[in-house]
Amino acid sequence: MEGVGTDLVIFGASGDLASRKILPAVARLAERGLLPSRLRVIGAGRSEQPEHIWAPLQTSSRGSNIETRWVRLAYGEPDSYRELRETLGGSATVIYYLATPPSTFIPIVTSLAATGLANSEGGPKRRIVVEKPLGNDLASAREIDHRLREAFGEEQVFRIDHYLAKDTVQNTLAFRFSNAVFEAMWNRTLIESIQVNVAEEVTIGSRAGYYDQVGAVRDMVQNHVLQLLALILMEPPRTLDAANIRRAKLDALLAINPIDPSVAVRGQYEGYLDEPGVALDSRRETYAAARLTVDNWRWYGVPIYFRTGKALPRRVTQAIIRFRDAPLLRLDSQPQRGIPTLLVIHVQPKEGVTLRIGAKRPGARFEMVAAGMDLEYSRLTREELPEAYEHVLSEVLAGGHTVFPSGEEIERSWEIVDPLIRSWELGGHPETYRKGSWGPEEARELMIRTQGGRWINPGDEPGIS
Ligand code: BG6
Repeated sequence: MEGVGTDLVIFGASGDLASRKILPAVARLAERGLLPSRLRVIGAGRSEQPEHIWAPLQTSSRGSNIETRWVRLAYGEPDSYRELRETLGGSATVIYYLATPPSTFIPIVTSLAATGLANSEGGPKRRIVVEKPLGNDLASAREIDHRLREAFGEEQVFRIDHYLAKDTVQNTLAFRFSNAVFEAMWNRTLIESIQVNVAEEVTIGSRAGYYDQVGAVRDMVQNHVLQLLALILMEPPRTLDAANIRRAKLDALLAINPIDPSVAVRGQYEGYLDEPGVALDSRRETYAAARLTVDNWRWYGVPIYFRTGKALPRRVTQAIIRFRDAPLLRLDSQPQRGIPTLLVIHVQPKEGVTLRIGAKRPGARFEMVAAGMDLEYSRLTREELPEAYEHVLSEVLAGGHTVFPSGEEIERSWEIVDPLIRSWELGGHPETYRKGSWGPEEARELMIRTQGGRWINPGDEPGIS
């Protein structure tokens, strides 16, 4: 008999991610009328159903009408999956969402496979969504992916990187590939350097249990930073469908050289060691910066810098593309430097694209002034921009893979960060930085000694807000 309806099974439904991101996104999709008509949300966990667990759904009137269930099971014990199996009996589509730590992925996936709840053949459509970080290093990521692929087909697997689902990140594709004018200058001939900044004002808060095991490289660089860069560096895909975008991103990632620890900086904010739950002598980094190089024709010799950290002065994510200077600008008889042309892709909190150019200062004299040509993304719509998790969920519900990296991309990203992780694990200490500063002094020096210019902070560059 054909099943009906869709079941969203959330493992780890009582956790932080479910209450802050997943369930509110379900509620907003409900509000916008974008959910399948018969959706059940099922929490799965070892305990009794925790109190108030569905409260985030109740923030919207349509969300509070969604049917919810709770099933008890122990992740690694297939025998305990009977209740889940019975509950899922008649559904047409089943989505397993693993909002749990990476150490639980293999036990859950193995149990689903052992109880016949993984394969889609002849049964309901089954999909599995896994959260980052997928693994702890290259070897463990390979192991998890291998086990995932033993139980599920590649088209059933959705690996989350919520940065890919941010509208402004997706706009990078539209910007690059619908404007021939930029694509023509998108290479080593005209671009001098690229800088990606992913700064957060927050500290680790109550997340020490997770963060002190992980650190900035695994938490942000292996995934968000490299995915954003892959979209900037990749060749034009043959079409903008998921398979071709993934192939083009993988190619770009394969061309990025593994990080050289001698051009990287590890930082830890002052007071990190006093955070509740952090190991007394923790050497975990809360800040990471490095220079990357890319071995392909388009980018050879163009230095690419990134930095990311917690406890920085503000939340800002942007990619800054610096074009080569005009060869010379003669004002009066004195040769002068022009104003560097910058293209800024603002991901958040500002959303849009700015092209910063040199212009003539109005008035009788011929003087230069920096001016920004601004695309403010929110002006393109009257609706509120969707949150990344709404986009993630609606793609999973529709079975599309555009905003999900492939297993090969994830593996390659681990290869890129692995030398850094290993070298930092071997010894040494992070440089400390003041909370609310832009990171350790060594990061500024990294720029100077590698001739990268300087880090661009919000408000630093005239013409860019
Ligand atoms: C998550 C990281 O993937 O991204 C967090 O685990 C980080 O440490 C968060 O705070 C940042 O996401 P956003 O969308 O707020 O920039």
